[in-house]
Amino acid sequence: MIEQTFVAGLLRDRVAFVTGGGTGITGGIARGMAQAGARVALVSRRMEHLEPMAKSITDAGGEALAVTADVRRPEEIETAIKQTVERFGKLDIVVNGAAGNFLCAAEELSPNGFGTVVDIDLKGTFNVCRAAFEHLKRQGGCILNISATLQLLGTPLQLHASAAKAGVDTLTRGLAVEWGRYGIRTNAIAPGPIEDTEGFARLVPAPVREKLQRRIPLNRLGRIEDIAQSSVFLCSNAASFINGAVLVVDGGHWLAANNLMGSA
Ligand code: HXC
Repeated sequence: MIEQTFVAGLLRDRVAFVTGGGTGITGGIARGMAQAGARVALVSRRMEHLEPMAKSITDAGGEALAVTADVRRPEEIETAIKQTVERFGKLDIVVNGAAGNFLCAAEELSPNGFGTVVDIDLKGTFNVCRAAFEHLKRQGGCILNISATLQLLGTPLQLHASAAKAGVDTLTRGLAVEWGRYGIRTNAIAPGPIEDTEGFARLVPAPVREKLQRRIPLNRLGRIEDIAQSSVFLCSNAASFINGAVLVVDGGHWLAANNLMGSA
């Protein structure tokens, strides 16, 4: 649990806006931030994805607001941010976790399929950062983008998501430089294979899961909690001089991908 790792109330008085915050990795980040004392707005296209997480946060004594919006529609994001600020009074943390993905060979990928993933992952991240800027600027704050490791090598069947996440890394560095002067830190987390997520179920076929785990130097799959804890850290004062970092949280997986020596 987050409380056992960090001092209680590490994110007390912070307000976080978490896209994709109802489910999966980003849902875990929202829960982790709420456990650390933040009030959280959970944002995604479908209310049925948001309500169970909002309830679980409030049942545990936290504060959560569920807001529907599509990151591809800047006007919906502006409205969602406005609702968040009306409810909680300000905005300190933005987590860009909304993402779309599927496995598809490049030669079979339609232009709209490629564009849809870029629209959600990359342009959606920009749309949210842009809409949040004026609020973050008021008292300083931080942006946490959810990247990936697949773009670090040439991952097959993932051209669309790799291109989008490479763009997310670039946005992270560019915003760190442009908005640092306003006291806004921008960082990213690149999760490796995380079990019990929709992405893992969709992207990693069951027969290869055991082999994949053996290729991770720490010899286990990642857990949502691993990403949640790293996120709380990066958005806390403990990381107050970290800006423009892309923190890989994958047990060493991508570094071991080109293991010419076989198993160590
Ligand atoms: C090929 C596909 C496809 C597939 C959709 N498309 N699924 N092409 N193989 N399996 C194509 C469609 O044919 C269409 O192109 C275009 O993509 C848009 O599809 P729509 O269904 O109309 O779009 P939409 O309803 O907006 O859905 C977006 C989506 C969908 C990305 C396609 O999968 C989605 O909403 N996913 C959200 C949940 C999700 O994916 N979560 C996992 C994230 S994991 P045409 O040409 O036919 O019009 C993740 C981890 C990344 O992000 C890192 C991994 C390690």
